Amino acid sequence: MSLRFDVAAHPGALAYKLLAGLVVPRPIALVTTIDAAGVVNAAPFSFFNVMGAEPAIAVFAPADRDDGTPKDTAANLLANGECVIHLCDEAVAAMMVECARPLPPGVSEVPRAGFTLAPSERVRSPRLAECPVALECRVLDIRKYGENRLVVVEILLAHVREGVADPSTWKVDYAQYAPIGRLNSPDGYARTTDRFTLRFPSED
Ligand SMILES: Cc1cc2nc3c(=O)[nH]c(=O)nc-3n(C[C@H](O)[C@H](O)[C@H](O)COP(=O)(O)O)c2cc1C
Repeated sequence: MSLRFDVAAHPGALAYKLLAGLVVPRPIALVTTIDAAGVVNAAPFSFFNVMGAEPAIAVFAPADRDDGTPKDTAANLLANGECVIHLCDEAVAAMMVECARPLPPGVSEVPRAGFTLAPSERVRSPRLAECPVALECRVLDIRKYGENRLVVVEILLAHVREGVADPSTWKVDYAQYAPIGRLNSPDGYARTTDRFTLRFPSED
């Protein structure tokens, strides 16, 4: 016997609780953007993934606030179309979570969380020096479905901490890289340190 939950009939908080608990672990994009005054905003989004490599595309989904206004990240992206997506390991996990604090627009989460800014190359949004991976991105599309906004970005440039990938092959060394994932909201997380391999199927 299986339990049934009519998601289409009951979208919203319960559907979120169930789906965000089931579809796990989710990678976490810690996204920096800038506003018109140059204030740097940082916020995590676990409705996120890379969707392709030619072109290199990522998608994340900042839901609107309860009052129907876009979150600061979405507002900045609608205004200038540039961001940096960071992947986080356990060393910066608590700092990442601090960036989820709802601060008023124009107030940066960055100093409060303890991150250091470093300049980006292809976008004006700076990156967070403590994160092992930073992906400079430009917006391709922002689509609204109900209270969700799907932000589709092209990844222009990847900054990868030395040791995490071999620069001659770009193979990632998981002894050097263990990003965290999100489990159920609000406070469940997973490590990526327990791994196994399966042989990829061939034609014969
Ligand atoms: C690990 C984590 C993942 C999150 N994922 C999302 C998400 O996918 N979509 C969303 O709208 N909010 C998500 N949040 C909440 C936002 O980070 C939070 O609303 C934040 O204040 C938005 O910041 P902003 O207004 O500066 O953009 C997440 C929070 C945490 C801690």
